[in-house]
Amino acid sequence: MNKQSVDHDVDIVVTNLQPMPAPTFDLVIRHARAATASDTFDTDIGIRDGRIVMLGADLPAGAREIDAGGRVVTPGGVDAHCHLDQPMAPPVRMADDFDTGTRAAACGGTTTVIPFAAQEKGQSLRAAVADYHHRAEGRAHVDYAFHLIVSDPTPQVLLHELPELIREGYTSFKIYMTYDDLKLDDGQILDVLAVAREHGAMAMIHAENADCIEWLTRRLEAAGRTAPRFHAHARPMLVEREATHRAISLAELVDVPILIVHVSGREAVEQIRWARAHGLKVYAETCPQYLFLTAADLGIDDSYHGAKCVCSPPPRDRQNQDVIWAGLDDGLFTVFSSDHAPFRYDAPEGKKPGGEEVAFRHIPNGIPGIETRLPLLYSEGVLAGRMTLGRFVELTATNPAKAYGLHPRKGTIAVGSDADLVIWDEREFVLDNSMLHHAVDYTPYAGQTLRAWPGMTLARGDVVWDGRSFHPRQGRGRFLACSTPSLMPRATPR
Ligand code: URP
Ligand code: ZN
Ligand code: ZN
Repeated sequence: MNKQSVDHDVDIVVTNLQPMPAPTFDLVIRHARAATASDTFDTDIGIRDGRIVMLGADLPAGAREIDAGGRVVTPGGVDAHCHLDQPMAPPVRMADDFDTGTRAAACGGTTTVIPFAAQEKGQSLRAAVADYHHRAEGRAHVDYAFHLIVSDPTPQVLLHELPELIREGYTSFKIYMTYDDLKLDDGQILDVLAVAREHGAMAMIHAENADCIEWLTRRLEAAGRTAPRFHAHARPMLVEREATHRAISLAELVDVPILIVHVSGREAVEQIRWARAHGLKVYAETCPQYLFLTAADLGIDDSYHGAKCVCSPPPRDRQNQDVIWAGLDDGLFTVFSSDHAPFRYDAPEGKKPGGEEVAFRHIPNGIPGIETRLPLLYSEGVLAGRMTLGRFVELTATNPAKAYGLHPRKGTIAVGSDADLVIWDEREFVLDNSMLHHAVDYTPYAGQTLRAWPGMTLARGDVVWDGRSFHPRQGRGRFLACSTPSLMPRATPR
């Protein structure tokens, strides 16, 4: 550097400008129509070491180049509610583990998954987390974080394990108000919410009234009404509405944000709108089954095929689908997740436990959807004109990353973010389970006309799906420790 004294009373520093070395990229994606939650813009995307390092027109050549040809490029999806290889009571077993589940995720455009490390009653939360790491280690094709499921909030859990785990990067947990092996009573929920408040974690709540469900189930059973379709009769909207309202009240008492998961229809939506109108931080999630299925999919007669669509809360009706679409468009919903809970239909470890067609009470709850989540919403949301591309990105990638402390590393297209990207192909076809990459023997969305599918998915700069073939590398997916959710206000001292 030369320092010249010019005719001024200050020194002017003149730098001998060397030509800047051309930036080097491992990969350049050319001619992308990039969409973030806030903007859509034409750009090349320069990628180095798995991260986006430059955006702009006419970037210098990369070691590899992909021409997006003006197609839409979105951030890879963040599926913030999916169940993979979650321990079940024998003989039931989930069909997808971290290998097949993340394979399906990648082929459907999802590059980050957040499944659940579930505590069994009597088990330490730490042991549940250690076991779940063991299940994931070396198997995942895309990055993953864990939510916790707290089913046994002992003093040891509340005072030590949970606060420590939150500090270590497990910054969200699910609370169940139903299912005998998982549910907490109101006092326990208050205790757990108080920990979320003190340590800045996000509490997700499954809101259904367990006692009402049990009472209705017994009456249905006594009347011989045990076919899959009666699952929906045992879980009417009222039981979801009551529990949603109670969850909101418990959160208000503790003064902590909550996120109500898998909201199914109008009555729960009304409770959430009421809470928001009263200034409460109540976030909400919905899932494809509440847009594309109805209770009729559980059967209009006593056929066992309805077991394929048994999930909780159950799908409702067309009017409720419209309410969910409206909430997706107008900001009521914060995230759109799959709630992928994969059980094979024709299998003794799946929907026919022990090989039997069982009463609805015993049918494993949950349906597959990790691979179809984004294409369904892109097709029927964006391309059918029900939501903007920005809102699609917000619901499927940006907000889930923010809600669970992964933003801006995940969920956006920005310099410094991971190069998790989807290049979209817009073409019409009819979905069939043979096209999918999960280990489940059906999709509830078979026969649905889709208008788009990922033409390419990149996970930290690696092509994992090229529109025809999956490119496996088990162990490519890394565990992500989560920060404090960026949707959270800072806790105020009481
Ligand atoms: O039926 C469902 N949703 N099964 C998965 C578990 C849950 O409650 O999310
Ligand atoms: Zn749930
Ligand atoms: Zn779930």
